[in-house]
Amino acid sequence: MLSGKQIVLGVSGGIAVYKAVELVRLLTKAGADVHVIMTRSAMEFVTPLTFQTLTSNPVHTELFNLIAEREIGHIALADRADLFIVAPATANVIGKIAGGIADDMLTTTIMATKAPVLIAPAMNVNMYTNSLYRENEEKLRCHGYLFVAPAKGMLACGWEGEGKLQAPEVILEEAICALTHRDLTGERFLVTAGPTLEEIDPVRYVSNHSSGKMGYAIARAARRRGAEVVLVAGPTCLDDPWGIETVRVTSALEMRDAVLARVPGSTVIVKAAAVADYRPKARATGKIKKSTEAMTIDLERNPDILSEIGTVKGDRTLVGFAAETGELVENARKKLTGKNVDLLVANDISLEGAGFHGDTNIAKLLHRDGRIEDLPLMGKERMANIILDRIVDLRKRGMRGEE
Ligand code: CTP
Repeated sequence: MLSGKQIVLGVSGGIAVYKAVELVRLLTKAGADVHVIMTRSAMEFVTPLTFQTLTSNPVHTELFNLIAEREIGHIALADRADLFIVAPATANVIGKIAGGIADDMLTTTIMATKAPVLIAPAMNVNMYTNSLYRENEEKLRCHGYLFVAPAKGMLACGWEGEGKLQAPEVILEEAICALTHRDLTGERFLVTAGPTLEEIDPVRYVSNHSSGKMGYAIARAARRRGAEVVLVAGPTCLDDPWGIETVRVTSALEMRDAVLARVPGSTVIVKAAAVADYRPKARATGKIKKSTEAMTIDLERNPDILSEIGTVKGDRTLVGFAAETGELVENARKKLTGKNVDLLVANDISLEGAGFHGDTNIAKLLHRDGRIEDLPLMGKERMANIILDRIVDLRKRGMRGEE
């Protein structure tokens, strides 16, 4: 995700410094080369050795260091950065950056960098809501600095409220966003994911093996590329993705209502959900008890949500999926034209490496003009980005009025 990226992490003094240690671990695991700068107060909480061990790079603490100054340390670091993160960022450091003060290694390097700067504040709630702090943050935002808002909760100082350093996973996600080319800015995505679950009684249900991973990967990748995203998800074990409005539904009928209500506000709709085609005709209110007889459950058809969207889609871009176990192209082609979609992602779920639960997929992309693209075995995140590339092309062609 971040391989080949040079990230400079500025760490300023606060109890949340321990979370910066975890952030460094996540950044390096994602492939980034991390260079840490610590302020004097940060070193009161954690020693430079901790960061040096995790990054395998020397930690910068002094503006005038005889060894680093051979290459003018702060300028070299400022130039090297693809992204500059300050986490935790104290009110003091943020005030200094906003005021144009550069009196230590951290603030001097930030002043000299042309890289995007992502600031993750951590402070007492009264400091965070102080009008002087608010002015500083506003000013920096106007100058293009990016912020990861702190979380609410119990603060180390005993107060409760906003001011906790955001979770390292969230800072990582925002770092990835900051480094991603935003070619979907202005688009409003509606993505569905996961299975639906149709209850037989309070204990049993009819459903399928969908994990939701492909739809979630598309939702996450679209947000990273600048889109606003709403995710309508059936029951999955996955956490709601950061920064994405996630609407949880259970049955196909609930999914239909949630989706159709949001079609007018969307420009791109991706229907990755594995919707149950049938539901029990009647749901028993109490648990159905067994008997010696065989049992038959009457099922009735669920509405086909994708087909319904296909009839009202207008100039929205509509992407459907097909899960097949044979005659992949023939079946998928029927769905492409029958449901009036612009692009169809066809999966043969019987292939090793495709299917519902894994992190990889194999697919064919069917286009309206008859083209078929083979997407070999790859991670779902990579496949999500290829699908988004095709959506970008379709949106551009739509804007030019091409078929
Ligand atoms: N779909 C839907 N509503 C349904 C069934 C399917 O919106 N009731 C959508 C899925 O989200 C997917 C596409 O239709 O984008 C194809 O789903 P799939 O399960 O492969 O096919 P079906 O149309 O259900 O046909 P079949 O089960 O006969 O293969």
